[in-house]
Amino acid sequence: MTNALRLGIAGLGTVGTGVLDIVKRHAALLAARAGRPLQVTAVSARSKGKDRGHDLSALAWHDDPVALAKSADIDVFIELMGGDSGPAKVSVEAALAAGKHVVTANKALLAHHGVALAKAAEAKGVMLNFEAAVAGGIPVIKTLREGLAGNDVRRIFGILNGTCNYILTKMADEGRSFADVLAEAQKLGYAEADPTFDVGGFDTAHKLAILTSLAFGTQVNVDKIAIEGIEAITLEDIRNAAELGYKIKLLGVAVAHEGGVEQRVNPTLVPKNSPVSETDGVFNAVVIRGDFVGDLMLEGRGAGSHPTASAVVGDVVDIARGNARPVFGIPAKDLKPYVQAPQKAHEGGYYVALQLHDKPGAVAAVARILADEKISIESIVQRGTASNETRDTAPFILITHNTLEPSIRKAMAKIEKDGHVVGHPRVIRIERL
Ligand code: HSE
Repeated sequence: MTNALRLGIAGLGTVGTGVLDIVKRHAALLAARAGRPLQVTAVSARSKGKDRGHDLSALAWHDDPVALAKSADIDVFIELMGGDSGPAKVSVEAALAAGKHVVTANKALLAHHGVALAKAAEAKGVMLNFEAAVAGGIPVIKTLREGLAGNDVRRIFGILNGTCNYILTKMADEGRSFADVLAEAQKLGYAEADPTFDVGGFDTAHKLAILTSLAFGTQVNVDKIAIEGIEAITLEDIRNAAELGYKIKLLGVAVAHEGGVEQRVNPTLVPKNSPVSETDGVFNAVVIRGDFVGDLMLEGRGAGSHPTASAVVGDVVDIARGNARPVFGIPAKDLKPYVQAPQKAHEGGYYVALQLHDKPGAVAAVARILADEKISIESIVQRGTASNETRDTAPFILITHNTLEPSIRKAMAKIEKDGHVVGHPRVIRIERL
């Protein structure tokens, strides 16, 4: 058997230790599959003394990840530090410049610098693999780049953040608060170092931008994505949605139109019988429509130590086998410039939650404003006040038929301005994807 493929890992957190686990436990299996042993020879992390459940004493230790990236002791640099700038970016650039293959789980880095890094890798004839950057353990990068190479893909969407899906699922199933479930997701190693990236929708946007590039052959562009997170979703919204036959999911959606690409991230009501509505907890789902294959859906664990490490190790085996191909499916220099699709009104229903003043004419006034904007109502829920209780306001929930987004925005502004509601109306898209 040939020489071992020598791996240097920068970042020994949740995913890094998962990689150590797999390489150790499956040493023989991996050597057989890769055609040569895989050996971790060097590491870099923040604190040397921390107990990670592995004996690292035989490995070269580098305090500086850039020194590890350039080290003569490694063939593959595995970047698991995260962040779109700083040590992650500098060390990946250094590794590529030094002619090392790179494996990374860093979606922010690829979303912001993917094209430049791909050009650097392709110029050096080395591989830059990033399966773990999108949807954790789901092999969606490989699916798009290799398995679906015979298709023109025009639409891709999915649940791309395990933390958000975990939060929304637990809130729905256990009636727990947003903050309580977020703390649990952090403890389980699902969330980013700064969980605002998760709940604010940015992590989903990074992943979506990468998928868009692979699917449509365009340069990665995260700056134009309209992003809305799940922070404003209340337990009440989740319960109302359930009562009306829907679940709330944070979706990333990319569609190739004639005039350009539409990318967006937003909480969405999906009918309970739609395929992604069954994807719960830390699971992610990606639905891809190819012109010859039709629709296909991939589902699996989107975050966590071992699922994400599984994707990293798959990438390493690919390198050991010499499975070379362009980073984004076509050479980086040939990726088309990203063109944003002209803003088009969303033709779909909306969930609207209002806290109305409980007085005669309030509902009629709201109905009139909606009618003026040609918004048609599909269903309404108004919870009454118990007879032994008095309240000044009452929740008023409605689902609209297909409506243009600007009409909804205009109607909500008018309802607020006319003083019919307390607080702000909450509006969530409905998608029948
Ligand atoms: N924080 C991410 C998530 C981890 O929750 O999905 C995987 O990218």
